[in-house]
Amino acid sequence: MAKQEDQFKKVISHAKEYGYIFQSSEIYDGLSAVYDYAQNGVELKKNIRDYWWKAMVQMHENIVGIDASILMHPTTWKASGHVDAFNDPLIDNKDSKKRYRADVLVEDYCAKIEAKIDKEVKKAAKRFGDAFNKEEFVSTNARVLGYQEKINTILGRLAKSLENEDLADVKALIEELEIADPLTGSKNWTDVKQFNLMFGTQLGASADSAMEVYLRPETAQGIFVNFLNVQKTGRMKIPFGIAQTGKAFRNEIVARQFIFRMREFEQMEMQFFVKPGSQKEWYKKWKETRLKWHLSLGMGEDNYRFHDHEKLAHYADAAADIEFKFPFGFKELEGIHSRTDFDLKAHEEFSGKKLQYFDPEDNSSYVPYVVETSIGLDRMFLAVFSKALQEEALENGTSRTVLKIPAVLAPTKAAVLPLVKKDGLPEVARKIVEDLKWDFIVSYDEKDAVGRRYRRQDAAGTPFCITVDHDTLEDDSVTIRHRDTMEQKRVKISEVKALIKEEVDMRTWLLKTK
Ligand code: GAP
Repeated sequence: MAKQEDQFKKVISHAKEYGYIFQSSEIYDGLSAVYDYAQNGVELKKNIRDYWWKAMVQMHENIVGIDASILMHPTTWKASGHVDAFNDPLIDNKDSKKRYRADVLVEDYCAKIEAKIDKEVKKAAKRFGDAFNKEEFVSTNARVLGYQEKINTILGRLAKSLENEDLADVKALIEELEIADPLTGSKNWTDVKQFNLMFGTQLGASADSAMEVYLRPETAQGIFVNFLNVQKTGRMKIPFGIAQTGKAFRNEIVARQFIFRMREFEQMEMQFFVKPGSQKEWYKKWKETRLKWHLSLGMGEDNYRFHDHEKLAHYADAAADIEFKFPFGFKELEGIHSRTDFDLKAHEEFSGKKLQYFDPEDNSSYVPYVVETSIGLDRMFLAVFSKALQEEALENGTSRTVLKIPAVLAPTKAAVLPLVKKDGLPEVARKIVEDLKWDFIVSYDEKDAVGRRYRRQDAAGTPFCITVDHDTLEDDSVTIRHRDTMEQKRVKISEVKALIKEEVDMRTWLLKTK
């Protein structure tokens, strides 16, 4: 646990030191759970968004994008159920005055039991060596089975109490498990209460006519209310999808863990409209497609797992999370939900307008069913960044800090370095920058010894360094150094662009999803 916390602290400080993420309004001591993306962060975020958009919109003939407003008519949120049911169960500690999500306290308790399972697995793997079979071990080892049963019982009871709105039982569970305030150890809890997560504001200047509106808590509703507009103007045939990226706002009770849970964040969502009855098949397909997208980035198959929901939201007939192994354990990265016709039917009812599709194949009209894929852009950023940050021991006994961001997503693709600041080398290096900058974000660095510059670029996540030396003046060749392997190759200046392109091209990476 302490090791995990240290690693996470390193992630946060590296993100600041290398210009990825700053605390919002830092000079005023910051604003809780709100962050700013800095000069490198904004590029990484844009590249993740583009990678998603290309995979979801550009590569699918039947998916188009929109960009709906953050502010929507307030009835939208009545229809969607957010006004009445977008709540989290909160609990206060009477001694520390700290506020927590009651369900998260219980889940964290279970995560600790899960860590014990991990420990048993690691111990056994060491003991049995190559003969170790993890699946067999976790399904037969008595201690592991005991831990797992305990987790299942606790989470099962939590799910049931939340579903039945039995908040007294959630409190009872916290007390029975003797869960203490993680900061102070106090077990002096208040009752559990529901807390609505939407931010409200006023639309219009006059006090009499101002309208109470909300900052959207999810981008999805902008897609639902535009469903028929897009279908008709785009002459879309079912099955088809509408995709969108944009800001969402939630007044999270507990906003910890850096950009994992923010109050202002960005979502990348796609609603896929299908014929009623075919939703199960599409749900399965989108689960597979989205997992493949993640795996295409090469961040390790073992770092992902599905978590199928037992407790379903009132609008869903199936739901699963793709979980990622963050520095603080496996947590939700993306949700895939089969949302039935709940949203479109509710908007029909509240607006009095028909939101039906006329299916020319069987001359029928119906409200389509929806399968949604929904991923937090900031959470994906954290997954990429935290996985990328590594401390590597080198053969010569030293070590280096390297940010192995997949090259396709890296903010700066190459740094051009003249070996010395004289003899015409800076001029050649500048010329290379001038040429490459039409295709990639590149930087120029002439300060310090070249070894130090390599380390600086490694830590910033730049996949390629191009070094101009005295031989360059003779034969138009440069050294290209790969961040991950530290291998250096001599190539002609005229070949550099194609070499980088091959390695950072979205096509190369996305084809790995096939
Ligand atoms: N339209 C469905 C929806 O919004 P969700 O599970 O509430 O579903 C989808 O959110 C994704 O949005 C999550 O998997 C997560 O990646 C991201 N997300 C949700 N709340 C967030 C927060 N407070 N901060 C950062 N990302 C968040």
